[in-house]
Parts: sequence; C-alpha cells; structure tokens
Amino acid sequence: MCGIVGYIGTKPAAEVLLSGLSKLEYRGYDSAGIAVRNGLDNPLIVKAKGKLKHLLDKTNNGKTVPGFVGVGHTRWATHGAPSELNAHPHCSDDMNVVGVHNGIIENYQELKEKLINKGYTFYSQTDTEVLIKLADYYYKKYNIGPVDAINKVMVRARGSYAVAIMFKDYPNQIWFAKKGSPLIIAKGKDESFLASDVPAILEYANQVYYVEDYECGCLEGGNVTFYNLDGTDITSTKKLVNIDWKADAACKGNYPHFMIKEIEEQPRVVEDTLNAYIKDNKIDFDSIGLSKEMLSKYENIYIFACGSAYHTGIVAQYIIESMCNIPVRVDLASEFKYRNYPLNKNGLAIVISQSGETKDTYEAMIKAKECGLNTMAIVNVKGSTITRDADITALTYAGPEISVATTKAYSCQLIVLYLLAVQMGYAKGLVDEKKYEYYINELKQIPSKINEILDEKVEIQKLANKFLSMRDVFFIGRGIDYALCMEGALKLKEITYINANAYAAGELKHGTISLIDEHVATVAVLTQEDLFEKTQSNMVEIRAREGSVIALTTYGNYKVDQASNDQVYVPEIEDIFAPSLAIIPLQLLSYYVSVNKGIDPDKPKNLAKSVTVE
Ligand code: AGP
Repeated sequence: MCGIVGYIGTKPAAEVLLSGLSKLEYRGYDSAGIAVRNGLDNPLIVKAKGKLKHLLDKTNNGKTVPGFVGVGHTRWATHGAPSELNAHPHCSDDMNVVGVHNGIIENYQELKEKLINKGYTFYSQTDTEVLIKLADYYYKKYNIGPVDAINKVMVRARGSYAVAIMFKDYPNQIWFAKKGSPLIIAKGKDESFLASDVPAILEYANQVYYVEDYECGCLEGGNVTFYNLDGTDITSTKKLVNIDWKADAACKGNYPHFMIKEIEEQPRVVEDTLNAYIKDNKIDFDSIGLSKEMLSKYENIYIFACGSAYHTGIVAQYIIESMCNIPVRVDLASEFKYRNYPLNKNGLAIVISQSGETKDTYEAMIKAKECGLNTMAIVNVKGSTITRDADITALTYAGPEISVATTKAYSCQLIVLYLLAVQMGYAKGLVDEKKYEYYINELKQIPSKINEILDEKVEIQKLANKFLSMRDVFFIGRGIDYALCMEGALKLKEITYINANAYAAGELKHGTISLIDEHVATVAVLTQEDLFEKTQSNMVEIRAREGSVIALTTYGNYKVDQASNDQVYVPEIEDIFAPSLAIIPLQLLSYYVSVNKGIDPDKPKNLAKSVTVE
C-alpha cells in the first residue's frame, strides 16, 4: 500500500518520479505528490488528490517542477482521508526535512504528543508528518547528521516503514530507511533510484539492492551508501541482484487496460511456470530445495494466504487431500495469525502470494516457522519479503502484474499447486508412473486450451451486458468448482461493485435461495463430472424461482441447456485441472462488466494491490 520513489541524477527528477509513480500506482491511487529540489532552494512540493493523472496535469507532466533531486509518492490512505493535505510528501515547518513514507507508524499518536509538547504543530492527520517531524527534532536537538537522526527515529518509531527523506543541509543527497515495508535501490552512471517495487525502475536498471529492515542509507549521484542501526557503513556487504523482468512487461502497450493484457498473457506465463518445474517430462522441485523424499514425509499441509491466493489454496486442498491422502488445512492468513490450533511439526506450511509483501501472509508464515514447521512460499515477485524468509520458494513466472485484480498470477499459482500435488502423490507412491505421465501431459495442454477460450472472448463480452442490471450475482458449484466460484465472485465484486457471493451449490436451500428473484443472476460452474447432475438440480431450482442461470461447463455437457438461460463452454481437460480453464471466462466476464459500467478495472475504488497493513 502506497508507492514511493526517489531519484537523484542528471535527468529532470520530476519526469523520472512521475514515470516511476505510474508503475507503482497499483499500490494506491487516492492521491499523489512529488517534492523536487533545485540546487540549494527548498524543494517544491506539488500534490493532487485522486489518481496520478491529476498530478501529471497539475505539473504539466513534471515540466513545472524543475530540479534533479526528488521524491514521490502515490497513496492508499490509512491515517487521514484522501485529500491534498494528507497527500505526501510531508515536511517540517521550515522545510528542513521533506519526505515520503509507505507503511504505518503504530505509535504515531504518542510521538505526536511528544512533539506537540516540544512546540511542533501539525497540519495533517497522517502518521508520516509525525515521522518527518521526529527526524527534524532529533536532527536539531542533538545537532547530528542524517544517519544518526534517522537511526534515532528507527529506534523510536514502531510499525512499518519505507521512507525517502531530503535534508535541507544536504542538497545533493536522498536518505532512505526501511523496516517492514519493501524498498529497493538501483544505480546508474551519475544517478540513483529508490522505489517500493521493481517496475518503477525497470526502464533504467536491471539490478537492484534490497534494503533490509533497520538499514538506512544515502543516494548521491551514482553512489549509494548503506548503514546499519549503529551507524556503521555496511555498503561492502550489500549485493546487487539481477532482475529478470523486461521493461515492457510493466507497460500497457496497445491494450486499453492492464487487466485485459494480463488475462491475455496467461497462455504464455502459465507455460513459463510449467517449464520452470517440468524437466524431461518429470516434475522437478529439487532445484528449489524440495526433494521427493521431503514430499513423501509430510503428514499435513497447512496453507495460508489472502484473497485470490487463498482461493488457489482451497483448490489445492481438494486436490492434495484426494491425491496425497493427507489432511490439508487452508486458513486466511489474517485469521491464522490470531488463532491457536495444534500444528503437526511434520507438516509443510505453504504461503501463497503474488506480491510476496502481504503483511498477513508474511506474518502467518513467520508464525508457522516459529511453531517449527517447514515453510514454502509460492510467490511471483523475486526478492520480495516473503521469499527472503521462507525455507523454500517456488516462484511463479507471471511477470509483473499491475492490475489490482489478479488474473495471471492466480493462474500461475494454480499451476505450482497442481505440480506440487502430483509430485507429492508420486513421492508417496499414490500416483503411479502411468498416471504421473498422464497428469503431466494434461498440464502441458493448459496453455493452448486457455488460448482457445481467449479466441472466443467476444461471446463473454456479449454476455456481460446481461449483468449490468443485476442486483446480486451468485456463483455456485460443488467441490473444486465451489473453490473456483470463490474467485469468480471476488473478481466480479472487486472491479464491478456488484454484490457477488460464492455458494456451495448444496447450501442454497439452507437459506440463500430466499434471495433469488428476477434481479439475481447465478453463474453455475459444472466442470466435475461426478457432481454435474447434483449442481444441475440446483440450477433447476433457481430457474423455478425466476432467477437467471448462466452455466459454465465443458464442451460436450450440452444438457445444461435445459437448466440454464446462457451457456459458456471450455475445452475438456482432466477434472482436477479444470479451474485453470474455467477461471478464464470468469475473469473476462468481470472485466467486460467493469468496462461496460465505466469503471477502471485496473484501479477499482478503495483498493490497492499490495496489502502491507493489517
Ligand atoms: C485479488 O484480485 C485481489 N487483488 C486480492 O484479493 C489479492 O489476491 C490479495 O490481496 C493477496 O495478495 P498477494 O497475492 O499479493 O498476497
């Protein structure tokens, strides 16, 4: 939540900052601001409420804010409403310290009172203004340099932060510090950059430093210096890490939205993820430190994740339980953190996250680790916080995902989970050689079958019009289809603002059916052969109550016609892998409904992509 950028060098800073912010806007978009310093003058601060576009207009794309040193911010409001006043950058009253912050300062009230007692006044409701003024206070009170002032702030402030700060007395430097929120640094010839995430600097660099918790440092031209909490220079210990992503991966190209671009990238990124773990027609997790021997011994699987990643965990639960004959428990990471139940130390804790930065997921992983469990992270962003603390990391190869609604990362997570289930079943002797080969061959068909669905997307576009007038939408299914419904409902809710709920089809009669009328649409998912007729009966019951039903099933299941108003067919595949195909029409449906309603599907209201606060 919130994106920060910093630039010092030979290019007009405002243009670099605004370009970086445009790549980080997925992190929050209720206001944005930049502070640019031109020589010895105080920084010029410009902020605008709403999406970045307003700041671009206000600064004539940065041209009205001259200078070669600056910091920028795009905000997802925590403390204080979205407004120009609460927008970052924030500053001390005399502009001695100006900075931007991503994170939450938990003891900001206490610090604010302390500063008020020392004579400070506050113009905003933000915790960031407190942080900036605290740095100013220590800097002046002890007459110390930036390293010591920042380190004092780090000792005193509780919570999480990535900050970029400019001190009046150091016109050619940008200072940074980090605890809990992500921060990367890149450098070029006579220039250096900082940012919350890699897409912001892809255009300029292909290597980054990851700032660790309780480290601070300074950018000065093309030099970067790092310090630890004692103020010791630790630059020589820091290593540059290669970035695998290409600059154009974080651009929209000719697509109207990132979401549709990312939906259409799925055949390729699913294939990339399959290729990363299938070698010579065998699944290979040895390269990430997960041997068949280890897999054969796990007695329990625990999965922790949030949102869509949690939904992939539910799909995996159905598959692993039946294929590997061990109990799988899936918990929302935010719930697991605060509950206690017995954990089997011979179990594997799996966390799933696109960003690798989701706070709840990270903390759930740490809790599992502290309880003595081996931890495995399925994550899309290399070098992210979760990957750095997991025992085992299986990367997904979705590339940068910018649209707030996840699509391609979800699909790649499913692939890793399928591979894990098949490999574990094989390692435990429950999947024989023939079945193993069959599963691998089926998995390899997924990319081309996704392509077939995408070729028919105009049909879904037509269907989307029917949803515009709906009050509520239900997604019903049984077994794995129910797990898929959870994702279908979340997708529709988050980008169309239509109330949507996933229901196990068998549960309808236990209350929910009272909501069915002509203003309610139901999407019924029927990809599991053994459950087909059961769900079909539930569809009939809905139609008898004037509800309209859209059936989503595989080619060949034409008898759904009798129980539905509209039908969507996907290619046939082994039942357990059907979510990878059936999710595509559901993603497209949400996308087209959103666009038809005039909503920006990439940036739905109130949301941010990376949820780094509780
Ligand atoms: C999905 O479309 C959402 N944007 C959201 O539910 C997301 O999946 C969740 O916040 C988890 O994020 P992560 O995968 O980065 O951990």
